[in-house]
This record gives sequence, structure tokens and C-alpha cells, in this order.
Amino acid sequence: MEEISANTQHRRWESGISRRIFLGTALGSGAAILAGGSSVIFSTASNAATDAGADSMFKLGGDLAVKRLGFGAMRITGEGIWGWPPDRDEARKVLRRAVDLGVNLIDTADAYGPETSELLIAEALHPYPKGLVIATKGGLTRPGPGQWIPNGRPEYLTQCVEKSLKRLGLERIDLYQLHRVDPKVPMEESLGAIKKMQDAGKIRHVGLSEVGPEEIARARKVLPIVSVQNQYNINNRKWEKALVYCEKEGLGFMPWSPVGGGRSLKSAALEAAAKSHGATVYQIAIAWLLARSPVMLPIPGTSSVAHVEENVAAGAIKLTPAEMKTFESAS
Ligand SMILES: NC(=O)c1ccc[n+]([C@@H]2O[C@H](COP(=O)([O-])OP(=O)(O)OC[C@H]3O[C@@H](n4cnc5c(N)ncnc54)[C@H](OP(=O)(O)O)[C@@H]3O)[C@@H](O)[C@H]2O)c1
Repeated sequence: MEEISANTQHRRWESGISRRIFLGTALGSGAAILAGGSSVIFSTASNAATDAGADSMFKLGGDLAVKRLGFGAMRITGEGIWGWPPDRDEARKVLRRAVDLGVNLIDTADAYGPETSELLIAEALHPYPKGLVIATKGGLTRPGPGQWIPNGRPEYLTQCVEKSLKRLGLERIDLYQLHRVDPKVPMEESLGAIKKMQDAGKIRHVGLSEVGPEEIARARKVLPIVSVQNQYNINNRKWEKALVYCEKEGLGFMPWSPVGGGRSLKSAALEAAAKSHGATVYQIAIAWLLARSPVMLPIPGTSSVAHVEENVAAGAIKLTPAEMKTFESAS
């Protein structure tokens, strides 16, 4: 599914990334991780993250430890990310299985369903196990199935935070993300409202979604930002510069659509790697993300217990330097 990007200006800016710069950055990063070495761009990030793989940890905001391979709870809702799923019990099983398998970062939003994703999380997992981080979002409204409209007005966001707290059964949200920068509202006003909720103890850390480096830097003048959630996967790297910014500044980068968002991720390189590791292309796509950057926090989403098991198992796959190189040249 495609959520609306409120910032076409940054899209235009991102589409201007030269292939040469992109390849240099990506190859350098991958090589540094695979060699267990360091590079200038990891100087801050390496303080927050350890090693590649599903069990490697990242500290959001320097103090909130999450396993880098998380779970996205958008697909546990109904068709068009609308309403309840056809099998509510299966949705609860998916959530519990993810946690049983060691996932401790679950991404959701008030807009998923709307409301049903957060409600299902509470139904399945409350009281929450120690260390489980639920990252939710506000700032996109849902007039109907498949429709997503930004609303960044301060009074609206304040009420979104209160309602998410209630639905999730929490006193404080560990990570609250502004789902979209609303082009009709200055970002400072939207984030100002979120900052007030943070100052009131209702939010621990704050993240952004679908933003480039300039917007992240602007937001950081209002309040500390610990993560960025942008569309990114092995076949779609338009937000490469945002990833590089996050690496340099030690912010978590949560790629949405990590396994293609329901669209096929087919390529000869993916299929060859899948064959050689006895894995699926979905697993290779996840393994590639984990190897791509120590700040990468993939949140693959699924409505199926079998797929959550498959996706978590991908954390054990170690791609070779030659495979990483092939993926860069194929991109
Ligand atoms: N910030 C934003 O604007 C934004 C936008 C979209 C999503 N998100 C977040 O990012 C998360 C992931 O994004 P996404 O759901 O769009 O993309 P995704 O995780 O790349 O793809 C999910 C789709 O892939 C399928 N799938 C997952 N694992 C599979 C496997 N092992 N084998 C076969 N099919 C598999 C799922 O179908 P099945 O259900 O059949 O497994 C589902 O249709 C969401 O849950 C949400 O938390 C954020």
C-alpha cells in the first residue's frame, strides 16, 4: 500500500541523487560492516548499534534497547488497511509469535485500521512483557480504505497521543512518530505539540516518517529526534541520503516496505542468493537490510504466523561480501 507523502519537495530532491554517489556510499557502508570495520559515517552509529543479524541491538535515543529486526503491525488489519482483519484470532497469534521469537520492536499507527492495529496489539500482548517497545504514529487521517490524508495540526496531534495511550493501555509511549509532515502546517507547530506531550511524560522518544536530511535537521531544532521511518528496500533506495544522515547522527532508520510492501521483489541477484542460502527472496531482502547499515531497523509486516517465522529467521542469514557487491551493482 502507498501512504501519501506530504513532502513532494523532498521527493524531488531525493530523486536527484546521482548513481555515482549512491554506489560509493552503499558499497562503503556494506564493506565496513562485513569487514567488522569502521568508517567515518559510522562513528556515532557504532555507539548505538552492535553487529548485524536479528539479535543485534540498537539503542533508540541512546537508552532504549531494541533488537534490530522488528515487526510492522499494519498488515494485521482489514483489506485496504481498514477495519478488523478477516481472522482476528490469527492476527493476535501473529503478534504473540513475533514476541515469542524475540522481537521487541513493534511498529504501529493510529491510522492502521484506523485504531484496530493498536487495539489488537493491546488485546494480544497487554500486559506487555518487559522490554517490549511499541512504536506508534500519528498525523495521518483515514477517510476510507486505502485513503491517507495528513493532519499535523497541534490540537489534532495532542488528541492522537492521548487516544493511542488509551488504546495501547500505556502511560507513556516509548516511540511516537510524526507519520507525515503536513504541508499545510509548519513542522515546528506539529512537533511543538508532540514536544509538549513529551514534556508531560506521555512520550519517551520521538521519530519522523518520510523525511529527508533537511527536514530531520529542522525537526531536531524543535526536539530530539531518535528515528526516521522511510520507504526503503533492496529495490527502492530513493531515501539513501536520509539513511546516510541517520548513520552519521546515530538515529535509527526504520525502512517501511522492507520486503516490497506486497509487491514482488524479484531480481536475478535476489533469486541467486536465495538459492545459495536455501532461503526465500523475502529473507534475503531482510538479511540485506540488516547488513546494509547498523542503524537499520527493518519492520517487515505480515498477517501470517508462517511468514513472521520466516522473516525472523532471516536474521541468521549472513550475506557474503560478493553478494553485497552484486546487490549494489544491480541497484
Ligand atoms: N511510515 C509509513 O508511512 C509506513 C507506510 C507503510 C508501512 N509502514 C510500516 O512498515 C511496516 C512494513 O511495511 P509494509 O507492510 O507496507 O511492507 P512489507 O513488510 O515490505 O510487506 C508486507 C507484505 O509482504 C507480505 N509478506 C511479508 N513477509 C512475507 C513472506 N515471508 N513471504 C511472503 N510474503 C510476505 C505480506 O503478506 P502476508 O500478510 O501474506 O504475509 C504483506 O502483503 C508496516 O507494517 C508498518 O508498520 C509505515
